Amino acid sequence: MRHLIDFGDLERREWDELYARADRIINCPEAYLDTCRGKVSCNLFYEPSTRTNFSFQTAMLRLGGSVFGFADPKSSSVSKGETLKDTIKMVSGYADVIVMRTPWEGAAKAASLYSDVPVVNAGDGGHMHPTQTTADLTTITRLRGSVDGMSIGLCGDLKNGRTVHSLIKALAKFQNIRFFLIAPRALAIPEYLRQFMRAHDMPFVEVTGLEPVIPQLDVLYMTRIQRERFADPQEYERNKGIYVLTRAKLGRARENLLVMHPLPRVDEISVDVDDDPRAVYFQQARFGMFARMALLADLANQPRLDPGPVEIGRSPVCHNPSCITQTERYLPPLVKQNGGVDCCAFCDAPL
Ligand code: NCD
Repeated sequence: MRHLIDFGDLERREWDELYARADRIINCPEAYLDTCRGKVSCNLFYEPSTRTNFSFQTAMLRLGGSVFGFADPKSSSVSKGETLKDTIKMVSGYADVIVMRTPWEGAAKAASLYSDVPVVNAGDGGHMHPTQTTADLTTITRLRGSVDGMSIGLCGDLKNGRTVHSLIKALAKFQNIRFFLIAPRALAIPEYLRQFMRAHDMPFVEVTGLEPVIPQLDVLYMTRIQRERFADPQEYERNKGIYVLTRAKLGRARENLLVMHPLPRVDEISVDVDDDPRAVYFQQARFGMFARMALLADLANQPRLDPGPVEIGRSPVCHNPSCITQTERYLPPLVKQNGGVDCCAFCDAPL
């Protein structure tokens, strides 16, 4: 693995190796104090973050490395009109690994084309969030021994929730997973992911009600309605507060259910759930730090590599208004196939 842009690009063997390292780190963190000694991570956060930014920072510090970057793009040259390409060319000269979060879909992929060092996607708009997925899979595996064979309910804003999109991509690599996709119709999963699930023989049902399916689940993955992704504020008002998990609703759930959430929560999990032993979202956040240590231990220690020349694009082929190719017009017109359909290789939108 050179970059982590989309969990779908990882082979199952690569995930197993990453998890095995995370597991060893959790068992004996003292053995990793010097793993990244002298290495420097650049954290570019163009969007708000608490867990992801802090967990990447603490992961690097716990490995003996250091971190620089920004959490507010207004304090960088982006505000002077610098292109993403130039920012990446420059910081990849300073750092050994780049961790970036942006509101633009496909931005981490774009950065990887120009970087001499590995790039980690810490969230690109409503598209993907693969390192949250490493936290999620580490949590399930540590607490339940395996991910295979689980019935998993994904609940909330499945249209805009990048953590869910990443998790679905990852779960294609496991066996006998059944999915309950719980969302209002307006916030159902994107069509490209529906096609992806069909193409990978991943059985799923789409429902709008949470309570009827709770008894069937091994994992309930709650998500926040992603207010910042709504073009129409009325649409957000119509959907906010639609699902609220309470302790009473857990009454019919399995004894060994895992209630997960990437956090931050707004109101979709009531605080009376927090002390239920099935609520593991704060543990999940801590496992995320160890999973990120396992990732940085590999990526920050890779040799520098000139990515070579990149074709200059003339005008974007993708029509998704949130796609990075809309603002960074020089990006090459890369196309990939999703379930036989031509899609933008940056943001996955059908062309
Ligand atoms: C998520 C994100 O940023 O996509 N948070 C996180 O990284 N743990 C989920 C969210 O913001 O709802």
